[in-house]
Amino acid sequence: MLQSTLIEAARAGAAEILRYFQGTFRVDNKEGINNLVTEADHASEKAILSVIRNAYPDHMILAEESGKSHQTDEYKWVVDPIDGTVNFAHGIPLNAVSIGIEKNGEIIMGVVYNPHLQEMFFAEKGIGAFLNDKPIRVSNEKKVIKSCLVTGFPYIYLDQPNGPLEVFARFVRKGVPVRRIGSAAIDLCWVAAGRFDGFYEHKLEPWDSAAGSLIVTEAGGMITNHQGNEFSIYQHAVLASNGWIHDELVGVLNNTHEL
Ligand code: IPD
Ligand code: CA
Ligand code: CA
Repeated sequence: MLQSTLIEAARAGAAEILRYFQGTFRVDNKEGINNLVTEADHASEKAILSVIRNAYPDHMILAEESGKSHQTDEYKWVVDPIDGTVNFAHGIPLNAVSIGIEKNGEIIMGVVYNPHLQEMFFAEKGIGAFLNDKPIRVSNEKKVIKSCLVTGFPYIYLDQPNGPLEVFARFVRKGVPVRRIGSAAIDLCWVAAGRFDGFYEHKLEPWDSAAGSLIVTEAGGMITNHQGNEFSIYQHAVLASNGWIHDELVGVLNNTHEL
């Protein structure tokens, strides 16, 4: 029941994404430069929330555009109606609905659905991770120097030691490919599917990583903060990998290991 509502909610949001994608829509700016929100973000979120509220009126919801609902329940749905809004606004078909379900503080189920590629990633705690119902697995790469990585940059640049550009340069100078897809939820799922060996980002929000974090771990991968410590969707710095290269990535992120 939980699973079918989750999938139905993701499909409802994705239908709004596709409805607006080819046409015209209003675009507004949020905090920062080019931090966009479109009519489609609101429409997708409305459709998702309506499915959840219909099925589970008591469950709590944390959604990017409308914030936190006031219910307090053991269940909390963490919703990003469009992850990759800048891509969406530019007609780039790399964006997705992302919804994670937390039970008593632990993510137990998640879905990331990119309707343009018709890729539905799903995971359930203890059961596994799937792409369009087929099990997925992280890669087997054991060395960072041979890896293909992905990252993202915050809307407001973080000028700090080991900040986004500094770390990016560290990899690129040594010839390690670091892609920039523009959707953290998709980045995490593509690590889970073995397309990327690792992903890091400095400033994510809970809705960016809620579903993807479980999809990575259920696919056999690892997710922590940049120090290699226990992951929480409520802290900003995220590092995900196939597990094999994790310690080495922590070293590069903190500048304690040279490639
Ligand atoms: C953004 C995307 C992007 C990441 C940003 C996020 P949004 O989410 O996930 O890849 O680099 O940090 O804020 O704004 O498109 O939902
Ligand atoms: Ca997002
Ligand atoms: Ca979003």
